[in-house]
Amino acid sequence: MGYPITRMRRLRRTAEIRTLIRETRLDPSSFMKPLFVVSGEGVRRPIPSLDGQFHLSPDEAVREVRRLRELGVPSVLLFGLPETKDPVGTSALDPDGPVPLAVRRIKETVPEMVVATDICLCEYTDHGHCGILRGEGVDNDRTLDVLSSMAIVHAESGADMVGPSDMMDGRVGAIRRALDERGLTDTLILAYSAKFASAFYGPFREAAGSAPAFGDRRSYQMDPPNGREAMREVALDVDEGADIVMVKPAMPYLDVLREVRAQFDLPLAAYQVSGEYAMIAAAAQAGLLDRRAAALESLTAIRRAGADILITYFADEAASWLRAL
Ligand code: PBG
Repeated sequence: MGYPITRMRRLRRTAEIRTLIRETRLDPSSFMKPLFVVSGEGVRRPIPSLDGQFHLSPDEAVREVRRLRELGVPSVLLFGLPETKDPVGTSALDPDGPVPLAVRRIKETVPEMVVATDICLCEYTDHGHCGILRGEGVDNDRTLDVLSSMAIVHAESGADMVGPSDMMDGRVGAIRRALDERGLTDTLILAYSAKFASAFYGPFREAAGSAPAFGDRRSYQMDPPNGREAMREVALDVDEGADIVMVKPAMPYLDVLREVRAQFDLPLAAYQVSGEYAMIAAAAQAGLLDRRAAALESLTAIRRAGADILITYFADEAASWLRAL
Protein backbone atom coordinates (compact mmCIF):
# COMPACT_ATOMS: atom_id res chain seq x y z
CA MET A 1 0.00 0.00 0.00
CA GLY A 2 1.72 3.15 -1.20
CA TYR A 3 1.10 6.86 -1.08
CA PRO A 4 -1.27 8.52 -0.22
CA ILE A 5 -2.43 5.85 2.29
CA THR A 6 1.14 5.36 3.47
CA ARG A 7 2.95 8.51 4.55
CA MET A 8 6.35 7.78 6.09
CA ARG A 9 6.60 11.31 7.43
CA ARG A 10 3.88 10.55 10.01
CA LEU A 11 6.54 8.52 11.82
CA ARG A 12 8.90 11.50 11.95
CA ARG A 13 6.59 14.33 12.94
CA THR A 14 7.81 14.99 16.49
CA ALA A 15 10.97 14.24 18.43
CA GLU A 16 8.93 12.08 20.83
CA ILE A 17 7.49 9.92 18.05
CA ARG A 18 10.93 9.53 16.52
CA THR A 19 12.36 8.44 19.87
CA LEU A 20 9.51 6.00 20.44
CA ILE A 21 10.07 4.12 17.20
CA ARG A 22 13.87 4.29 17.21
CA GLU A 23 15.42 0.97 16.13
CA THR A 24 18.92 1.53 17.51
CA ARG A 25 19.73 3.19 20.81
CA LEU A 26 23.09 4.33 22.10
CA ASP A 27 23.83 3.64 25.70
CA PRO A 28 27.07 4.34 27.60
CA SER A 29 26.81 0.86 29.12
CA SER A 30 28.13 -0.55 25.84
CA PHE A 31 31.13 1.79 25.68
CA MET A 32 34.77 0.85 26.26
CA LYS A 33 37.30 3.68 26.49
CA PRO A 34 40.92 3.21 25.37
CA LEU A 35 43.49 4.72 27.79
CA PHE A 36 47.23 5.21 27.23
CA VAL A 37 49.21 4.48 30.37
CA VAL A 38 52.73 5.76 31.10
CA SER A 39 54.90 5.34 34.19
CA GLY A 40 55.22 7.94 36.92
CA GLU A 41 52.79 9.78 39.20
CA GLY A 42 50.51 12.69 38.51
CA VAL A 43 51.09 12.55 34.75
CA ARG A 44 48.21 13.72 32.56
CA ARG A 45 49.80 14.81 29.30
CA PRO A 46 47.77 15.76 26.20
CA ILE A 47 48.46 13.52 23.19
CA PRO A 48 49.27 15.79 20.21
CA SER A 49 47.94 13.39 17.54
CA LEU A 50 44.71 12.74 19.48
CA ASP A 51 43.30 16.03 20.64
CA GLY A 52 41.30 15.46 23.82
CA GLN A 53 43.15 12.23 24.81
CA PHE A 54 45.92 11.94 27.40
CA HIS A 55 48.93 9.93 28.45
CA LEU A 56 48.09 8.95 32.03
CA SER A 57 50.21 7.59 34.86
CA PRO A 58 48.56 4.73 36.80
CA ASP A 59 47.20 7.07 39.53
CA GLU A 60 45.70 9.37 36.88
CA ALA A 61 44.26 6.33 35.09
CA VAL A 62 42.43 5.56 38.33
CA ARG A 63 40.98 9.08 38.40
CA GLU A 64 39.92 8.71 34.80
CA VAL A 65 38.24 5.39 35.58
CA ARG A 66 36.31 6.98 38.46
CA ARG A 67 35.11 9.71 36.11
CA LEU A 68 34.09 7.15 33.47
CA ARG A 69 32.15 5.12 36.05
CA GLU A 70 30.26 8.23 37.08
CA LEU A 71 29.32 8.78 33.44
CA GLY A 72 28.06 5.20 33.15
CA VAL A 73 30.96 3.87 31.06
CA PRO A 74 31.69 0.37 32.42
CA SER A 75 34.97 -0.56 30.77
CA VAL A 76 38.44 0.57 29.67
CA LEU A 77 41.06 -0.83 27.32
CA LEU A 78 44.62 -0.16 28.47
CA PHE A 79 47.63 0.44 26.23
CA GLY A 80 51.10 0.82 27.71
CA LEU A 81 54.04 3.04 26.89
CA PRO A 82 57.06 1.33 28.50
CA GLU A 83 60.28 3.02 29.64
CA THR A 84 62.48 0.70 27.59
CA LYS A 85 62.24 -1.18 24.31
CA ASP A 86 64.32 -3.99 22.83
CA PRO A 87 64.05 -6.37 19.83
CA VAL A 88 61.97 -8.95 21.71
CA GLY A 89 59.68 -6.68 23.71
CA THR A 90 61.03 -7.72 27.14
CA SER A 91 59.34 -4.78 28.90
CA ALA A 92 55.94 -6.22 27.90
CA LEU A 93 56.50 -8.90 30.55
CA ASP A 94 57.39 -6.53 33.40
CA PRO A 95 54.83 -7.04 36.17
CA ASP A 96 55.60 -3.49 37.32
CA GLY A 97 55.18 -1.93 33.87
CA PRO A 98 52.60 0.83 33.39
CA VAL A 99 49.75 -1.49 32.38
CA PRO A 100 50.03 -4.11 35.16
CA LEU A 101 50.47 -1.28 37.70
CA ALA A 102 47.42 0.56 36.40
CA VAL A 103 45.34 -2.63 36.38
CA ARG A 104 46.21 -3.36 40.01
CA ARG A 105 45.45 0.20 41.13
CA ILE A 106 42.18 0.34 39.24
CA LYS A 107 41.10 -3.01 40.64
CA GLU A 108 42.02 -1.90 44.18
CA THR A 109 39.96 1.26 43.98
CA VAL A 110 37.20 0.63 41.42
CA PRO A 111 36.90 -3.17 41.33
CA GLU A 112 33.65 -3.10 39.34
CA MET A 113 35.32 -1.49 36.33
CA VAL A 114 35.79 -3.98 33.51
CA VAL A 115 39.47 -3.74 32.63
CA ALA A 116 40.73 -5.01 29.30
CA THR A 117 44.39 -4.82 28.24
CA ASP A 118 45.96 -4.76 24.81
CA ILE A 119 48.19 -7.74 24.09
CA CYS A 120 50.69 -6.86 21.38
CA LEU A 121 54.41 -6.20 21.21
CA CYS A 122 54.51 -3.15 18.93
CA GLU A 123 54.67 -0.69 21.83
CA TYR A 124 57.45 -2.70 23.47
CA THR A 125 59.79 -3.57 20.57
CA ASP A 126 62.44 -1.14 19.34
CA HIS A 127 61.52 -1.96 15.72
CA GLY A 128 57.81 -1.33 16.32
CA HIS A 129 56.57 -4.59 14.81
CA CYS A 130 53.94 -6.63 16.62
CA GLY A 131 56.17 -9.65 17.22
CA ILE A 132 59.67 -11.06 17.24
CA LEU A 133 61.55 -10.65 13.98
CA ARG A 134 63.20 -13.24 11.81
CA GLY A 135 64.95 -11.34 9.05
CA GLU A 136 62.58 -8.63 7.87
CA GLY A 137 59.49 -10.66 8.82
CA VAL A 138 57.67 -11.44 12.06
CA ASP A 139 58.19 -14.98 13.38
CA ASN A 140 54.68 -16.16 14.13
CA ASP A 141 55.33 -19.09 16.43
CA ARG A 142 58.08 -17.54 18.54
CA THR A 143 55.83 -14.54 19.11
CA LEU A 144 53.06 -16.71 20.55
CA ASP A 145 55.09 -17.54 23.66
CA VAL A 146 55.78 -13.89 24.45
CA LEU A 147 52.14 -12.88 23.88
CA SER A 148 51.01 -15.71 26.16
CA SER A 149 53.41 -14.59 28.90
CA MET A 150 52.22 -11.01 28.51
CA ALA A 151 48.60 -12.15 28.86
CA ILE A 152 49.50 -14.03 32.07
CA VAL A 153 51.17 -10.92 33.55
CA HIS A 154 48.08 -8.81 32.82
CA ALA A 155 45.63 -11.46 34.02
CA GLU A 156 47.60 -12.00 37.24
CA SER A 157 47.48 -8.25 37.83
CA GLY A 158 43.71 -8.52 37.74
CA ALA A 159 42.70 -7.72 34.17
CA ASP A 160 39.22 -9.05 33.40
CA MET A 161 39.98 -9.34 29.73
CA VAL A 162 43.03 -9.61 27.50
CA GLY A 163 42.83 -8.31 23.95
CA PRO A 164 45.36 -9.75 21.49
CA SER A 165 45.72 -7.21 18.66
CA ASP A 166 48.88 -8.61 17.03
CA MET A 167 47.20 -10.79 14.37
CA MET A 168 49.57 -13.76 14.75
CA ASP A 169 48.00 -17.07 13.74
CA GLY A 170 47.05 -19.25 16.69
CA ARG A 171 47.46 -16.61 19.37
CA VAL A 172 43.99 -16.94 20.83
CA GLY A 173 44.47 -20.67 21.38
CA ALA A 174 47.98 -20.20 22.75
CA ILE A 175 46.82 -17.51 25.19
CA ARG A 176 43.80 -19.56 26.31
CA ARG A 177 45.98 -22.60 27.05
CA ALA A 178 48.57 -20.49 28.87
CA LEU A 179 45.93 -18.78 31.02
CA ASP A 180 44.18 -22.04 31.83
CA GLU A 181 47.44 -23.77 32.82
CA ARG A 182 47.91 -21.00 35.39
CA GLY A 183 44.39 -21.40 36.67
CA LEU A 184 43.34 -18.10 35.09
CA THR A 185 40.23 -19.70 33.64
CA ASP A 186 38.01 -16.67 34.30
CA THR A 187 40.04 -14.24 32.20
CA LEU A 188 38.13 -13.35 29.05
CA ILE A 189 39.75 -13.13 25.62
CA LEU A 190 38.65 -10.16 23.54
CA ALA A 191 40.01 -11.21 20.15
CA TYR A 192 40.88 -8.60 17.56
CA SER A 193 39.70 -11.12 14.99
CA ALA A 194 39.12 -9.06 11.85
CA LYS A 195 41.81 -6.43 12.20
CA PHE A 196 42.71 -4.78 8.93
CA ALA A 197 46.03 -3.20 7.89
CA SER A 198 44.47 0.25 8.00
CA ALA A 199 45.66 3.78 7.34
CA PHE A 200 43.27 4.87 10.10
CA TYR A 201 45.70 3.77 12.86
CA GLY A 202 48.03 6.69 12.11
CA PRO A 203 47.27 8.91 15.14
CA PHE A 204 47.42 5.90 17.50
CA ARG A 205 50.92 4.98 16.41
CA GLU A 206 52.10 8.45 17.31
CA ALA A 207 50.21 8.27 20.62
CA ALA A 208 51.59 4.84 21.49
CA GLY A 209 55.03 5.27 19.93
CA SER A 210 54.45 2.08 17.98
CA ALA A 211 55.01 2.91 14.31
CA PRO A 212 57.08 0.22 12.59
CA ALA A 213 60.68 1.35 12.01
CA PHE A 214 60.66 -0.30 8.58
CA GLY A 215 58.05 -1.86 6.31
CA ASP A 216 54.40 -2.12 7.31
CA ARG A 217 51.99 -4.58 8.96
CA ARG A 218 50.53 -6.04 5.79
CA SER A 219 52.04 -9.48 6.27
CA TYR A 220 50.04 -10.01 9.47
CA GLN A 221 47.06 -7.62 9.55
CA MET A 222 44.27 -8.28 7.06
CA ASP A 223 44.15 -6.91 3.54
CA PRO A 224 41.36 -4.28 3.51
CA PRO A 225 39.53 -5.60 0.41
CA ASN A 226 38.82 -9.02 1.97
CA GLY A 227 35.43 -9.47 3.62
CA ARG A 228 35.03 -13.25 3.26
CA GLU A 229 38.51 -13.80 4.67
CA ALA A 230 37.36 -11.87 7.76
CA MET A 231 34.76 -14.59 8.38
CA ARG A 232 37.55 -17.22 8.33
CA GLU A 233 39.54 -15.18 10.85
CA VAL A 234 36.55 -14.91 13.16
CA ALA A 235 35.74 -18.61 12.82
CA LEU A 236 39.32 -19.55 13.76
CA ASP A 237 39.30 -17.30 16.83
CA VAL A 238 35.96 -18.72 17.93
CA ASP A 239 37.40 -22.21 17.54
CA GLU A 240 40.48 -21.29 19.57
CA GLY A 241 38.38 -20.04 22.46
CA ALA A 242 37.68 -16.34 21.93
CA ASP A 243 34.96 -15.03 24.25
CA ILE A 244 34.32 -11.81 22.33
CA VAL A 245 35.32 -11.05 18.74
CA MET A 246 36.13 -7.71 17.20
CA VAL A 247 36.09 -5.88 13.90
CA LYS A 248 38.57 -3.02 13.53
CA PRO A 249 38.42 -0.29 12.24
CA ALA A 250 34.67 0.25 12.54
CA MET A 251 33.04 2.73 10.18
CA PRO A 252 34.95 1.81 6.99
CA TYR A 253 34.13 -1.87 7.73
CA LEU A 254 30.42 -1.79 8.59
CA ASP A 255 29.73 -4.49 5.98
CA VAL A 256 32.17 -6.80 7.79
CA LEU A 257 30.54 -6.03 11.14
CA ARG A 258 27.13 -6.78 9.69
CA GLU A 259 28.30 -10.10 8.27
CA VAL A 260 30.01 -11.19 11.51
CA ARG A 261 26.79 -10.36 13.36
CA ALA A 262 24.82 -12.49 10.90
CA GLN A 263 27.15 -15.51 11.04
CA PHE A 264 28.25 -15.64 14.70
CA ASP A 265 26.49 -15.51 18.04
CA LEU A 266 29.40 -14.32 20.19
CA PRO A 267 29.43 -10.85 21.68
CA LEU A 268 30.82 -8.53 19.02
CA ALA A 269 33.01 -5.48 19.58
CA ALA A 270 33.83 -2.74 17.08
CA TYR A 271 36.81 -0.43 17.47
CA GLN A 272 36.26 3.12 16.26
CA VAL A 273 39.99 3.73 15.81
CA SER A 274 42.19 6.76 16.24
CA GLY A 275 41.90 7.93 12.62
CA GLU A 276 38.11 7.77 12.74
CA TYR A 277 38.16 9.85 15.92
CA ALA A 278 40.77 12.27 14.56
CA MET A 279 38.86 12.87 11.33
CA ILE A 280 35.75 13.93 13.20
CA ALA A 281 37.78 15.98 15.68
CA ALA A 282 39.70 17.78 12.94
CA ALA A 283 36.65 18.43 10.77
CA ALA A 284 34.80 19.82 13.78
CA GLN A 285 37.81 21.94 14.70
CA ALA A 286 37.79 23.36 11.17
CA GLY A 287 34.11 24.23 11.52
CA LEU A 288 33.12 21.70 8.85
CA LEU A 289 30.85 19.54 10.94
CA ASP A 290 29.29 19.36 14.36
CA ARG A 291 31.49 17.24 16.68
CA ARG A 292 28.69 15.96 18.85
CA ALA A 293 26.26 15.14 16.04
CA ALA A 294 28.93 13.48 13.90
CA ALA A 295 30.30 11.42 16.79
CA LEU A 296 26.87 10.22 17.91
CA GLU A 297 25.82 9.43 14.34
CA SER A 298 28.99 7.41 13.71
CA LEU A 299 28.53 5.43 16.94
CA THR A 300 24.87 4.81 16.12
CA ALA A 301 25.84 3.51 12.68
CA ILE A 302 28.38 1.10 14.20
CA ARG A 303 25.74 -0.20 16.57
CA ARG A 304 23.13 -0.47 13.83
CA ALA A 305 25.57 -2.65 11.87
CA GLY A 306 25.58 -5.07 14.80
CA ALA A 307 28.21 -4.18 17.39
CA ASP A 308 27.45 -4.95 21.05
CA ILE A 309 30.52 -3.21 22.43
CA LEU A 310 31.73 0.15 21.11
CA ILE A 311 35.41 0.85 21.72
CA THR A 312 35.70 4.59 21.22
CA TYR A 313 37.77 7.60 22.22
CA PHE A 314 34.45 9.47 22.41
CA ALA A 315 33.21 7.19 25.23
CA ASP A 316 33.21 9.78 28.03
CA GLU A 317 32.09 12.67 25.85
CA ALA A 318 29.35 10.63 24.20
CA ALA A 319 28.17 9.43 27.61
CA SER A 320 27.77 13.00 28.81
CA TRP A 321 26.01 14.04 25.60
CA LEU A 322 23.59 11.14 25.95
CA ARG A 323 22.89 12.09 29.54
CA ALA A 324 22.02 15.61 28.46
CA LEU A 325 19.60 14.45 25.73
C1 PBG B 1 48.56 -2.50 18.34
C2 PBG B 1 47.34 -1.71 18.12
C3 PBG B 1 47.09 -0.72 17.16
C4 PBG B 1 45.82 -0.24 17.44
C5 PBG B 1 45.32 -0.96 18.51
N1 PBG B 1 46.27 -1.89 18.90
C6 PBG B 1 47.95 -0.15 16.12
C7 PBG B 1 48.39 -0.97 15.00
O1 PBG B 1 47.96 -2.09 14.78
O2 PBG B 1 49.25 -0.46 14.28
C8 PBG B 1 45.14 0.89 16.72
C9 PBG B 1 44.10 1.61 17.51
C10 PBG B 1 43.72 2.94 16.98
O3 PBG B 1 44.12 3.36 15.88
O4 PBG B 1 42.95 3.62 17.67
N2 PBG B 1 48.86 -3.47 17.42
